[in-house]
Amino acid sequence: MAITDTYVVTVLLDVNERQDVDDRAESRSYLVADRTSGEAVIIDAVIENVERDLRITKELGLTLLFAIETHIHADHITGASLIKERTGVQIVYGGGAKGAVTGADQFLFEDEALRFGHTVLTALATPGHTDGCTSYMLPGAVFTGDALFIRGNGRTDLQGGSAEKLFDSVRKKLFALPDDTIVYPGHDYQGRVSSTIGEEKQFNERLNLSINKGTFVEMMNRRKTPRPVKMDIAIPANMNAGRMVGS
Ligand SMILES: [Fe+2]
Repeated sequence: MAITDTYVVTVLLDVNERQDVDDRAESRSYLVADRTSGEAVIIDAVIENVERDLRITKELGLTLLFAIETHIHADHITGASLIKERTGVQIVYGGGAKGAVTGADQFLFEDEALRFGHTVLTALATPGHTDGCTSYMLPGAVFTGDALFIRGNGRTDLQGGSAEKLFDSVRKKLFALPDDTIVYPGHDYQGRVSSTIGEEKQFNERLNLSINKGTFVEMMNRRKTPRPVKMDIAIPANMNAGRMVGS
């Protein structure tokens, strides 16, 4: 949890008992609450966790205004539409997903902001894992989706992914943020909660400052990563804000 002047971040882990058959495991969702108004947003909700997340929101006395997506996920179905049905939130995708997504209420392009109470969340286009990936910044923190992980980065071989674009997104945009900016990733496979931009500049395995673009692209293009198990269901559903096609 990070506490600043205006907001509190609650990290919502994905508790998945069947990790062997369902690779949504280790997805991270985030509840960001404005401290004074109690207005809140949820970032990258997972459909299976919606009841838990709404219970936590209620326990904390928060009012959810927005369900925000960093990108069109391939590994799990977003909970955005179910949360909208239950609470009336507005669904927000990054501007890069416009044209690919139906069912969003708003697309947030680079430098555009959402306000909830005294808290302002700003979009930063960070394509590369997918062509439409967007990170979201708060003062002192950034939600990087699958662009930048703790010590790693998302795959670049699916959904219009590009190692070249990912390198530029991380090095020119995310690494331009202050070193003490807290990094909240879209996944972590080792139980870590957050990092900082300064740590990743130094210790990220593929994107630390000693690695050049050519080396990074070569490393990414050499990787062989299995297809996400749920991909053929998840991508169409997430292009429809988490509604299963036909429902
Ligand atoms: Fe992803």
